[in-house]
Amino acid sequence: MGRYPQELIDQILDRVDIVDIISGYIGLKRAGRNFKSNCPFHNEKTPSFVVSPEKQIYHCFGCGAGGNAIGFVMKYENLTFPETITILANKAGVELPNLNKLSSQEESITARLYEVNKLATEFFQAGLKSGEGKTAQIYLKARDISFESVKRFKIGYALSGWDNFLKYCNKKKIPIEVLRKAGLIIRGEKGDYDRFRKRIIFPIFNERGNISAFGGRVMDESLPKYINSPETSIYVKSNVLYGLNFSKKGIRENGCAIIVEGYLDVIVPFQFGITNVVAASGTALTSRQARMLKKYTDTAVMVFDSDQAGEAASLRGLDILIENGMKVRIARLPEGEDPDSYIRKNGKEKFDILINGAKELFEYKIELLIEKFGANSVGDIAVEMLPTISKVGNAVVKADYIRRLAGYLRVPENSLHQELGKVKTDYSHKSLLKAETKKKKSIYIKSELHLLGLAVSDINVFRLIQQELGLDKFRDETVKKVLNIIGDFFEKGIIDITPSKILARIQDDEDANAVFLEALKTAEITEEPLKAASECIAYALKENKKTALSELTYQLKKAQAINDSSAIKDLVLKLNKLYKEKVM
Ligand code: CTP
Ligand code: MN
Repeated sequence: MGRYPQELIDQILDRVDIVDIISGYIGLKRAGRNFKSNCPFHNEKTPSFVVSPEKQIYHCFGCGAGGNAIGFVMKYENLTFPETITILANKAGVELPNLNKLSSQEESITARLYEVNKLATEFFQAGLKSGEGKTAQIYLKARDISFESVKRFKIGYALSGWDNFLKYCNKKKIPIEVLRKAGLIIRGEKGDYDRFRKRIIFPIFNERGNISAFGGRVMDESLPKYINSPETSIYVKSNVLYGLNFSKKGIRENGCAIIVEGYLDVIVPFQFGITNVVAASGTALTSRQARMLKKYTDTAVMVFDSDQAGEAASLRGLDILIENGMKVRIARLPEGEDPDSYIRKNGKEKFDILINGAKELFEYKIELLIEKFGANSVGDIAVEMLPTISKVGNAVVKADYIRRLAGYLRVPENSLHQELGKVKTDYSHKSLLKAETKKKKSIYIKSELHLLGLAVSDINVFRLIQQELGLDKFRDETVKKVLNIIGDFFEKGIIDITPSKILARIQDDEDANAVFLEALKTAEITEEPLKAASECIAYALKENKKTALSELTYQLKKAQAINDSSAIKDLVLKLNKLYKEKVM
């Protein structure tokens, strides 16, 4: 089946009024600019369910449910997306095209994208074998990546120069539209050019082994370390687990999946005979990914880099796996190691030991929280543990966790059971944001959220963000994703963007949904959006500079330790340049 075009969905959203729609189901009372009611999605006595006619969205501050008119009807009536569209199109007087007709058109585009990705893969593979590719071969060799791995994972090299691939495709008469749609060619002010240049290329496969995107790594310490394909109609980042096409057999046979972060953390262990690895590719695991894994096993071991980012990602991923009924354990690597470096240094046996000794979720999380808050912060620890425990399906396990938590915190079990009853399980993101406010990084995330919220309502704010900071500087992938959607609107000349239309583009992505609603909330009460935005931008620039400085300083220390004089020189230059750069 095809999909309805986005413009059509916008048209429907333009013509229906969310207040009308929701009033058809539940009673709404006016409250200032908004309407209120008791939430139909959870039990409550005082109304925390708000409908905004301006934004054309609803949001429950109690349980976190939220969305546009389509989302409401879908959830309330428990319908599929196409079913809901049919109902609302009818109300709006919008005529719907036949989905079966749409599909043949779309399928041919999909097939063409896979085709051109295959062509690109071959082009990059040839690049690796070329004269210029020697440097890339040397790089791969230095990282102990075998010839077999290069072949299996179809690793390649994108030549330096702006348009090698473009020229190659021109000769083959491949339409530029297709290349742009595939994300291989970027349209610039001075003309089209190759996205991937002078980088090692890792093709990203889908579950069936077709190539849906690429990741390109630099061969030195320059930034960004990776450039990836943008999301396209065949590449939705949150739907991909890198390596799954190779490892699904191994996962079935082992009865367990090992989840790592990076491309190389899949490739290198594979070389050592660990064939049940997949990577979430540097983002937090999504429900969709968890469900993909669950087709092959219900047991997973997460191995994440032992840095801050790695730990945050694993905590977040944990809850997602548990919600989807998986059993999870976590392996902690020694400081500064990732699975790739660990297995190369220590070999397969030690790696196996590490995996077998992986901690059960409960122990891992409580250890981490005690490190973070200190053993006496009973409240903080309980707040973070209870939502996780509440997601455990098995009642016996749940009771056991509560007993143990009570032991750790030295509080009566009963009180924890009471608290557990109050935990809302369907809004995991909220607890994350709340938990993170304790730390510096959380201020950063909040500031990004604030920028996102401001950008929706004002094109000037969006432009300011684009010019002064750049969308690619955002650290939170979800925030970045939603900002790019807003950017698309502006690019197409659509200025009348309502939050409800943005929600229509992230309908399938629970995380993005929650993040976006949160962002709207933070921007709600801002009086001078431009001023607030420039403050957030200045803060981001300062933080980015700090991060870059500490990254370079760390690299410098490493280079000094091994007396690598050319690297030292290079790093000192970079550091000096960065110090001189003025940041507000
Ligand atoms: N990643 C990304 N973009 C970046 C940095 C990271 O997409 N700018 C993703 C990639 O999928 C990468 C993963 O996050 O594989 C893990 O990042 P990291 O640990 O920094 O990279 P590694 O793949 O381990 O690379 P290396 O060992 O070469 O440093
Ligand atoms: Mn690595």
